[in-house]
Amino acid sequence: MNIVILAAGQGKRMHSDLPKVLHPIAGKPMLSHVLDTARKLAAGRICVVYGHGGERVREALDAADLAWARQEPQLGTGHAVMQALPHLDPDVPTVVLYGDVPLIRAETLDRLIRVSDGGALALLTVQLAEPRGYGRIVRADGRVVRIVEEKDADDAEREIDEVNTGILVAPTSALARWLPGLGNRNAQGEYYLTDIVALAVGEGMAVEVAQPAAAWEVEGVNSKAQLAALERIHQRNIANELMERGVTLADPARIDVRGELVCGKDVFIDVNCVFEGRVELRDGARINAHCVIHDAVVGPRSIIGPFARLRPGTVLGEDVHVGNFVEVKNSTIADHSKANHLAYVGDATVGSRVNVGAGTITCNYDGANKFRTVIEDDVFIGSDTQLVAPVTVGRGATLGAGTTLTRDAPPDQLTISRTRQTTVPGWTRPVKKKKD
Ligand code: UD1
Ligand code: CA
Repeated sequence: MNIVILAAGQGKRMHSDLPKVLHPIAGKPMLSHVLDTARKLAAGRICVVYGHGGERVREALDAADLAWARQEPQLGTGHAVMQALPHLDPDVPTVVLYGDVPLIRAETLDRLIRVSDGGALALLTVQLAEPRGYGRIVRADGRVVRIVEEKDADDAEREIDEVNTGILVAPTSALARWLPGLGNRNAQGEYYLTDIVALAVGEGMAVEVAQPAAAWEVEGVNSKAQLAALERIHQRNIANELMERGVTLADPARIDVRGELVCGKDVFIDVNCVFEGRVELRDGARINAHCVIHDAVVGPRSIIGPFARLRPGTVLGEDVHVGNFVEVKNSTIADHSKANHLAYVGDATVGSRVNVGAGTITCNYDGANKFRTVIEDDVFIGSDTQLVAPVTVGRGATLGAGTTLTRDAPPDQLTISRTRQTTVPGWTRPVKKKKD
């Protein structure tokens, strides 16, 4: 089939320089969600209709399997689909989706495609308690006869609670026949895609309907408030999936997954954690409250947080502890090692059974270049230590608290760099001078 995604609308009510369909849900542009769903349907051709400011959309999301049709000016949804026609295969049906309706599910579209059965016009409709603003599905003797837009509807039609979601499947050859003949003599002076319903009925073509499993699937985004509402629904859906697979969430309303979160068995996640990119939590991992984890692997039975940050390239082994106010970046930390308090571990290779003391910093950056720190197995690093990379701490070494390590530390010995403690005899504190 062909898929047309309408994305030419300006989205004025977002009050943003960013084109509406690039606003993210779960860290991903709304239009990317729709594209991912479209790709699940194994579409032959996917055509995005873009408009004002849309070059940015095209630059951000272009891919080999996409065709782009520019609609300038925007004269309505019927006019929009017409711009896509030259890109479509006339011999297979066309599915029309909206770039600002991001949560539509592939299963629902599959059902709509099945009711269209290759030859009928199929509309996705929904019953709404508050149908205001939507096109209404007008039926006669139970059969769909046309769609009337809110602004063109009479009082009786406004009472209809079955509304048009805008999503539909149509035979492409019929679209090619109907669209050039659409008029714009209506309340909005637009070429309405919805007018094709009456044309289909007039030709004796069957008009079928299907409904989504949940109303949020067909909710559109026109404002920041609607964007936030769909974000919460989407996050709740992700939380439900995680729990179904056995993850324990302290509160499914307080987790944010902005990418792919892969969990083993008996994983526990406390409140207010953010997961970005691809994150793996292996069996028995425990993520305490207020952690931010981005493109990282947390090994089995490891404990993270509260208040820890794992940045891209972090790979932790088994039973690793990363405690409060510890940041790890582009580093591996092997089994049974611990950095429990206030540390920065960046560009480091840390062995097994290492203890990284409170306040330890890997100085990985000289202002121009980054260097690695190697900490071998069984090292003990005293508190408030700086490791000026590139530097290696040998197996079993101990670094005294407060050390600034600028050369390699030999294995199994104590290395320390600080002045000896002295007590100054007879020293007294300064006292405030009297002013006269
Ligand atoms: C449309 C439907 C209405 C339906 C509602 C669902 C028509 C005439 N009406 O109304 O029956 O209940 O959607 O939300 O189709 N777009 C373009 N180019 C244009 C106009 C719109 O690409 O020239 C895109 C917009 O970016 C948007 C979508 O089409 O993604 C719908 O446009 P919108 O203006 O929101 O349609 P409505 O008037 O709300
Ligand atoms: Ca709309």
